[in-house]
Amino acid sequence: MELRHLRYFVTVVEEQSITKAAEKLCIAQPPLSRQIQKLEEELGIRLFERGSRPVKVTEAGMFFYEHAVQILTHTAQATSMAQRISAVKQTVRIGYVSSLLYALLPQIIYLFRQRYPDIHVELIECGTRDQIEALKSGKIDLGFGRLRLTDPSIKRILLRKERLKLAIHKHHALAEYIDSGIYLSQILDEAIFSYPATPKPNFATAIQSIFTELGLVPKKMIEVREIHMALGLVASGEGICLIPETASDIGMKNLAYIPILDLEAYSPISLSVRNMDQSSYIPKILDCIQSVFQQEQISMHNEDS
Ligand code: BEZ
Repeated sequence: MELRHLRYFVTVVEEQSITKAAEKLCIAQPPLSRQIQKLEEELGIRLFERGSRPVKVTEAGMFFYEHAVQILTHTAQATSMAQRISAVKQTVRIGYVSSLLYALLPQIIYLFRQRYPDIHVELIECGTRDQIEALKSGKIDLGFGRLRLTDPSIKRILLRKERLKLAIHKHHALAEYIDSGIYLSQILDEAIFSYPATPKPNFATAIQSIFTELGLVPKKMIEVREIHMALGLVASGEGICLIPETASDIGMKNLAYIPILDLEAYSPISLSVRNMDQSSYIPKILDCIQSVFQQEQISMHNEDS
């Protein structure tokens, strides 16, 4: 039995006439009569009293009519709901740590928007640790962060290890190392600004861990609210600070940047997703990252971590 048979039957009942129903359905009368007969044969019941004018539905026919109307109504509702769902733009919520705005995040998101205009992107600033809970609760779908945090429900994909640089005033005594680079052991006596102040763990704690890993203890670490404050204070001659190398694009006046030579001096950039998430936006964003990395001549790390 097809839906059109139900529609034919319902129309004949409502019009109380094969002729009027045929007109309404825009089909000829003989095929309509044949389809009603076939329906009766298929159901093994008589739907209409024989020879009645106007057409009179039997008791069993009336029972079938009421259910047929419900089936047709549900089908129409399901069709329009499915059409509405497919018309609504898919939304991807992306959590990110703010320092990635100085890195390649803007380029990657811009490219994603160009390539997939039907996907609505929402950007939500969120510390790396908070991203784990936000992924689990569905507040975000993807998280870009800088910390090596692990959780059994979250898959972390290491994208690259961004080198660190030392920001100094251009006339600072350490400026002689601008070309040669410098080791962290050479800056322990300096006043070092670290940031952000919250939430912990953050870039400041990651820097502290690098010193600890190297067995080094800086004499004076001063925590400030955020990177612009740290750089502003460095430009004022108050001290120095470590930054991910892309943050040198901030371009504050009178600053100079020295490469850090210790192998451990990097900040990992990773993408976190829910374990088992098979959504198509994951390969799509990874493709965009790959394209931006190629453009910037950066090689993408190819292992999960
Ligand atoms: C990057 O600078 O490498 C980067 C930033 C955000 C997302 C992915 C990669």
